[in-house]
Amino acid sequence: MSHQSDLIAEDISAYLKAQEEKSMLRFITCGSVDDGKSTLIGRLLYDSKLIFEDQLNALEADSKKMGTQGQEIDFALLVDGLAAEREQGITIDVAYRFFSTDKRKFIVADTPGHEQYTRNMATGASTADVAILLIDARKGVLTQTRRHSFICSLLGIKRIVLAVNKMDLVDYSQKVLNDIEVEYREFAKDFGFAEIVSIPLSALKGDNIIEKSANTPWYDGPTLMNYLETVPVGDARQAADFRLPVQWVNRPNLDFRGFSGTIASGTIRPGDKIKVLPSAQESTVKSIVTYDGDLDEAVAGEAITLTLNDEIDISRGDVIAGKDHPCEVADQFEAKIIWMAEEQMLPGRPYLFKTANKTVPGLVTDLKHKVNVNTLEHTAAKKLELNEIGICNIALDSRIAFDPYGQNRDTGAFIIIDRITNSTVGVGMIDFALRRASNIHWQALDVDKVARAEMKHQRPAVLWFTGLSGSGKSTIANIVEKRLFARGRHTYTLDGDNVRHGLNQDLGFTDADRVENIRRVGEVAKLMVDAGLVVMTSFISPFKAERRMVHDLMDEGEFIEVYVDTPIDVCAERDPKGLYKKAKAGEIKNFTGYDSPYEAPERADIHVNTAEKSAEECADVIIEYLEENGYLTANGNGQR
Ligand code: ADX
Repeated sequence: MSHQSDLIAEDISAYLKAQEEKSMLRFITCGSVDDGKSTLIGRLLYDSKLIFEDQLNALEADSKKMGTQGQEIDFALLVDGLAAEREQGITIDVAYRFFSTDKRKFIVADTPGHEQYTRNMATGASTADVAILLIDARKGVLTQTRRHSFICSLLGIKRIVLAVNKMDLVDYSQKVLNDIEVEYREFAKDFGFAEIVSIPLSALKGDNIIEKSANTPWYDGPTLMNYLETVPVGDARQAADFRLPVQWVNRPNLDFRGFSGTIASGTIRPGDKIKVLPSAQESTVKSIVTYDGDLDEAVAGEAITLTLNDEIDISRGDVIAGKDHPCEVADQFEAKIIWMAEEQMLPGRPYLFKTANKTVPGLVTDLKHKVNVNTLEHTAAKKLELNEIGICNIALDSRIAFDPYGQNRDTGAFIIIDRITNSTVGVGMIDFALRRASNIHWQALDVDKVARAEMKHQRPAVLWFTGLSGSGKSTIANIVEKRLFARGRHTYTLDGDNVRHGLNQDLGFTDADRVENIRRVGEVAKLMVDAGLVVMTSFISPFKAERRMVHDLMDEGEFIEVYVDTPIDVCAERDPKGLYKKAKAGEIKNFTGYDSPYEAPERADIHVNTAEKSAEECADVIIEYLEENGYLTANGNGQR
């Protein structure tokens, strides 16, 4: 880079040391290309001489060749050129740029402005200290400005720069700037921003970017670079309560046991009292170990290993906090979720929730409402689509240590992962814990599953039949049940059509309703298995995620997936209930195989093809499986 190149040549280690000691500011730029965003970033890099010489030469040549600014440099070309380096996927449409000046290092996340890029913007904003909201002086505060502000506030950005650009096109009018500022402050008053600074700019002409502009003598605030170089960073994080999410337990030999991770917030010193969450054990810090030796103090952002004065049990996923201000522990929350996947978020569907250091299964139990990002209106919803934001209740399988996001962005955030594809499908911010269910304890009963199963001389399990409507699930399940019954087995069949007359009569056939249908049936099947029964369930159960969820509800070997594989043409030909005919005629909606998907199992425990075998023969295959796998021995319990 051009700046400081003398020092690089003369004393490289002095240069590197200076770099290391500089503070780092992360900021995000919001706005669209029309507002002059590329030009602004290009101008920042160019005017502070942060562009590689070869880039500069190319830029000057390109500007003359194809730029829009006559003989002048077209800064937008620089940024758009860099944009070609963007990769694919979620993080990726966010272009992160690193640069530094004499005073500070910067990481700028440049995110596209359109609504379909909400998820990208959220990704860029989640680590930013400052947001630069670009506003075209001629247009003022737009819907887009409001949307970006809302997302910035949601993601906990506290400092906003209203970069009022294109001031040259409004004669550098003080009134224009003031009017925009007044309107914006009124709009943003409930967003919890600690600071809003408005700066009159012309990215094109360079006014108030680096140097104070003679065109705005009435403006006595900082230039943009001035602000970025001096705004306090990391102060809030360091002042916050101490949190160390434990990434791993460092135990090289029997004499050393340390707990490693990056300090999420606060400060720690040897002798400090700590509390470990969720276990609530307490101790004091013995030493703070790093590669460069022991420290007298460590602060947010540093990667350390703590040793303690007491032998207590701590594992990855725990959080070490200051004793007097520990974080909270809960397994149910209200949280805001930004959905980032094409596939919709459905309440009741199991996902993985990953916090700073722990991944636990769980589900969204209730979508209370979604928020329109443009108008901030709340609307009722049963699901979230890509880029939508919802307020949800979440239930996790185990308790985690956390803080509300408003207090701590590291320990209050989580990402949501799809259990089948392992991809990130959403991000969430915890508002508060829900205490509702915390007083309900599992009642330990003396007569348990093993006792009940033993009395019936059988090994309880659920035979989960899945397949298209008309594939033959119920017919085959019925034959299997009759045969088991004839052998003196205690059985029960849960059938889609029957259950939908009672327990699930409030449910239809949208994706969300099918998810809930299977969740309830899964829970009922689990209770029946607990009662010692061999349960047959006959539901289309079209989604892998829910079949997997039911599988995970049961103990090892209790869930037997039976794929009743019948080509849709054959089902339509049979059409026992005349539904295929109606679906074809468009008389019923969301019909599986037509306008609602069926995700076939890839590794079902039992796979029967009814086009090739009769229902009786399919039942033979299933009984054989049960025999071979020890489900039908005189006393099946020994086999578990
Ligand atoms: S599931 O998808 O939620 O598992 P379930 O097995 O309970 O479905 O119910 C399917 C039965 O409901 C079908 O066998 C059929 O008789 C009836 N049905 C009515 N409308 C539909 C529809 N749109 N899609 C599928 N099945 C339907």
